[in-house]
Amino acid sequence: MSGGAVFAPARVNLIGEHTDYSGGLVLPVGIDLGTTVAWQPRDGLVRVRSLAFGDVVEIGTDGSGAGTGWGRYVAAVVALLHERGRSEVGIDAVVSSTVPIGSGLSSSAALTVSVALALCRAAEFELEPLELAQLMRRAEARAVGVPCGLMDPASALLARRGHALLLDCGSEQYRHVPLPEGLAVVVVDSGVRHSLEHSGYAERRAEVERGDERRMRHVASENERVRRVVEALEGGNVDALGPLFRAGHDSLRDDFEVSTPELDLLVDIAYERGAVAARMTGGGFGGSIVLLADADRARALADDVVAAYRERCGREGRFYVCASVDGAAVGS
Ligand code: GLA
Repeated sequence: MSGGAVFAPARVNLIGEHTDYSGGLVLPVGIDLGTTVAWQPRDGLVRVRSLAFGDVVEIGTDGSGAGTGWGRYVAAVVALLHERGRSEVGIDAVVSSTVPIGSGLSSSAALTVSVALALCRAAEFELEPLELAQLMRRAEARAVGVPCGLMDPASALLARRGHALLLDCGSEQYRHVPLPEGLAVVVVDSGVRHSLEHSGYAERRAEVERGDERRMRHVASENERVRRVVEALEGGNVDALGPLFRAGHDSLRDDFEVSTPELDLLVDIAYERGAVAARMTGGGFGGSIVLLADADRARALADDVVAAYRERCGREGRFYVCASVDGAAVGS
């Protein structure tokens, strides 16, 4: 085994927010921002250097030696794969990432999935993508105590270029839904950082588990919106997308209470400036919105949105016109 490189993409979720941990529907797209792990096999140790943070973590091949900061994710991944039967092959690895941290684009799943695949390849250990995704969901919980759902690691593994991934997080059935030609997927980062570790994410999940009426109303209406967005995409009915995204955003703001004034403002501006559809995306409490726009004017529209956002609230937003890409288990 002479080493290699693994790329795991970040995702932008088109719709189906805060539905994954109650077994609902999600519709993410793998995007051309992501995390790359270049690795070489070695004996006895998992040694990973982060180009972003400039430091190195060293973990035993059984996951021993608690990491700190981002190293906690690496330690949890190594430990869970060890428990699942991966042989004790070490790696020397370098991690680099283009995913802005805290922007709601699943930077942590891109990290866990890329590290996991490097470890699996070094040990010639194969797991089915959904089993690996479930392990990575547990890695996040073990590393930082965030009880997240299946969407992010599943997307990092199973996304497909030119498509959204329709995943039923209860049955784990999935299929790929073609994205309409001529429609660009744009992320606008509000510049307000979120950290699921320190936000109300775990509290929301507990409220859903307790059956809180308003939170459940969001989950039920959101699952229905996912079905209708898929129908609209498959039927070429692009005009239906705007009202569905709008209703999804309003539900996250009012019933689920995970939006922020900055995300609300960005969504309003996006519609004012002619976006086909816009809503907050990801866990919320900061982060980004996703907007759909005619491809030939997407960049100009996004420039406009960011300028109006700066003018109205003084913050610097950033946008990415995303290309859709294959997940790590599909493309390599
Ligand atoms: C975060 C979590 C996901 C999902 C979203 C909200 O990204 O990691 O599992 O719950 O929030 O849809």
